[in-house]
Amino acid sequence: MTPEMLYALRDQAGVPSHPAVFLILGVLTFALHIAAVQVMLGAAALTLRGAFSTDLKWRRLAAAMITTAKIAVSVAIVLGVAPLLFVQVIYDPFWYTSNVLSAWWVIGFIMLLIAGYIAMYVFYWKNHDIVAEGGRGGGWMVLSLALLLAVGWIVHSLTYQMLFPEQWMDWYAPNGQIDPSGRSLHLSHLPRFLFFIALSAPVTGAWLFAYRRYLQGGKESDGVYLAFLRGLAQQLMLVGGVVAVVIGAVWMLTLPEKMAWFAGSVWMWMALAALLAVVALPLVLREKLDTGFWGYAIFGAGAVALIVVGASREVLRFVTLLGSHGYNALDYRITMDWYSTLLFFITFGVLGGMTLAYLLTVAWKAGQHKGDGPYVPSAGVTRIGQWSVSLLVIWTLLYFGVGFWVWAR
Ligand code: HEM
Repeated sequence: MTPEMLYALRDQAGVPSHPAVFLILGVLTFALHIAAVQVMLGAAALTLRGAFSTDLKWRRLAAAMITTAKIAVSVAIVLGVAPLLFVQVIYDPFWYTSNVLSAWWVIGFIMLLIAGYIAMYVFYWKNHDIVAEGGRGGGWMVLSLALLLAVGWIVHSLTYQMLFPEQWMDWYAPNGQIDPSGRSLHLSHLPRFLFFIALSAPVTGAWLFAYRRYLQGGKESDGVYLAFLRGLAQQLMLVGGVVAVVIGAVWMLTLPEKMAWFAGSVWMWMALAALLAVVALPLVLREKLDTGFWGYAIFGAGAVALIVVGASREVLRFVTLLGSHGYNALDYRITMDWYSTLLFFITFGVLGGMTLAYLLTVAWKAGQHKGDGPYVPSAGVTRIGQWSVSLLVIWTLLYFGVGFWVWAR
């Protein structure tokens, strides 16, 4: 594949904002996506580990983690769409070719995801009270985890195949015979995939520290449970962190020749330093973890570390495609569209910010509420909710209004 052929596959309409905007948003949203995936996998695994235990502490944890896992799947999906949008804008020649070559799996991905999510719900429906009754139907949860991992494997293959344009023709027409079926996943790299999956352990450890702090905020009286959570979180972060770093080292040692420059590069060391710093954070904070927002800070720091890992991963892709294939993602033709650029950022910042602030505040306060009767939001919180709905109405009117106006002109 010559650079000219790759450039010819680009969208001739250009991109509506500077390509750097898409590149940066791609990294940020990938980090959020992978964080949600990791919490989802970790929470699902802890549910399985705890639900069938005779130890009530584990069963209580399982009951909390199935709720977390359920929500994390939907967050992972929503936050998966975002990097999908950005990657297909600036890397479209690569992303679409990789997808078309494995089209059957791109569609299959959705089926597996639906089946995996349903399997998780079946487990949930079968288990109304894990603490009192113990777990039932663990096979559903195992199935769910397997299917969700299969989904991740497909995305990984698609992401990886796009980095090898020199092999596309062989996949499309093996031995000169065209195979348009799209039935094969052609390439993957197990250590790379496992690295992102293994990070689930420390990320879930960080999540447990936050969960524990949340319970403390709600005046949790079961000190034994809190101590159990702390020990488990610490263990997941330390042991899981070391395992992930070892798998990361295997990934670096097995990088294909054209990517070998990345191992030992400043980007790799930055990612490693960020991960190790977060893993060590609970050891530094110690008793502070029980005060203020420190218990949550570890997950926040983990998110920052994932952004550093995501940025390094992006450098690996950007430089490989530029250095080995002459494709510069940042020289995409710009057809500046201020309206859509502004609409995007306003939707994201104002509408998204306001709605999320409302939902999170209500969920938070309801969770911390103790006392008689259900939680009733204060007038201030209710006002944020009303604003969220009003903004959504204004946004919808504006969206369709401009569309009709452009159409009628
Ligand atoms: C629910 C199970 C899922 C798992 C376990 C999972 C896991 C992963 C992993 C491990 C990667 C990194 C791959 C690599 O760099 O080699 C990844 C990337 C990605 N995922 Fe997911 N994912 C899941 C669901 C989704 C969904 C539902 C979407 C889309 C709606 C999605 C969109 C993406 C995209 C676009 C990337 C690559 C972004 C890029 O190339 O910069 N994922 N995912």
